[in-house]
Amino acid sequence: MNIVVGVTGGIAAYKAVNVIRGLVLAGHDVHVVATDAALRFVGKPTLEAISRNIVHTDLYEGVAEVRHVAIGQAADLIVIAPATANSIAKLAAGLADDLLGNTVLASRAPVVIAPAMHTEMWQHPATVHNIDVLRSRGVTVVGPAVGQLTGADSGPGRLEEPDEIVRAALAVLEPKDLVGRRILVSAGGTREALDPVRYLGNRSSGKQGLALARAAVARGAEVTLIGANLEVQTPASMRVLHVGSTLELAAAMRDAAPEADVVIMAAAVADYRPESVAEAKIKKETTGDRLTLELVKNPDILAGLGESRGPGQIIVGFAAETEQDRDALLALGRAKIVRKGSDLLVLNRVGWTEGFGTEGNTVVVLDRLGDIVMEASGSKQTVADRILDAVVARFA
Ligand code: CTP
Repeated sequence: MNIVVGVTGGIAAYKAVNVIRGLVLAGHDVHVVATDAALRFVGKPTLEAISRNIVHTDLYEGVAEVRHVAIGQAADLIVIAPATANSIAKLAAGLADDLLGNTVLASRAPVVIAPAMHTEMWQHPATVHNIDVLRSRGVTVVGPAVGQLTGADSGPGRLEEPDEIVRAALAVLEPKDLVGRRILVSAGGTREALDPVRYLGNRSSGKQGLALARAAVARGAEVTLIGANLEVQTPASMRVLHVGSTLELAAAMRDAAPEADVVIMAAAVADYRPESVAEAKIKKETTGDRLTLELVKNPDILAGLGESRGPGQIIVGFAAETEQDRDALLALGRAKIVRKGSDLLVLNRVGWTEGFGTEGNTVVVLDRLGDIVMEASGSKQTVADRILDAVVARFA
């Protein structure tokens, strides 16, 4: 895609470098349009090296090739990061007194802005009004985040993290094939308390489940994420409920599932819990050299959801297996999807270094007949999108 990144003159302009880098690494052709003020904060050579293209600033350069409209006409997406209060006001008014203003007006591409300014400026009625105007025109506003600002102050106004800006910007280009669908995702790993300070748990971080939730939001779905001990931050674009144990997760899923068109059970669930939880810390003086724990079986949440599924509801299970042999792995998956009564099963290999907590994943998706409907490998975000492709195909 041809992406124009507009950089305007705020101290956060140095962070635009990471936004540009993220978009370039995602395989896009990035053209930077920087305002004069932006170049007081970050050097043109830096922007050119990172974007791998010439950086444009001057409205009166390249006049013969009608550059003031050509850049906008060629863009598939415009991302403005940081967007200062002044540049937001100019965008809202439709001013074209610089190259960026002309580029935006000459373009039919979606526009994403990431505001950055002091809290007082962000909350000023003029800025609030300008943001409303831009939103009503379909502009996507990412952030601002709440946190430390340039001076000693902190509050809303900090530029959203570059990774998040890249993700939100690219989400605008995603197919909107889940609009009107409600998707319930569980993520993370349940923990079963032994005493007030200890638990039995697993190494699931929640990254794959969160990636699914994010991908579903990007494709237009209304998403509820039930997170069991998530080690990742969740965005404001989805409803998030936090749970700890398997019984808590089971109750939350049971409550939320009737409303969902799709249920994705990505959480790693503890199959057993201690029969009793000690009220006080278990002490070595009392337990001695050996400690035997009595565990009782937890309910199978996924199988229960399968039994009580609503009409047309699609249920997606996961299977975490350590089996190394591909055929044996597939056989385990085929047996599991039948046992669980789900429509799709995402089979992934886990181990000491695979699956849990990692950035990437490799999965095979099976249907109820045991047929392979999709295989994917890559970042958890890429894998999430391919899994949703398989879900969308079932709606069709
Ligand atoms: N699951 C569940 N409730 C449980 C155990 C698992 O809902 N008590 C769900 C998981 O969220 C996952 C799927 O079932 O979607 C398979 O989980 P997995 O741990 O691979 O399988 P188990 O059911 O635990 O079976 P086994 O231990 O024999 O592999």
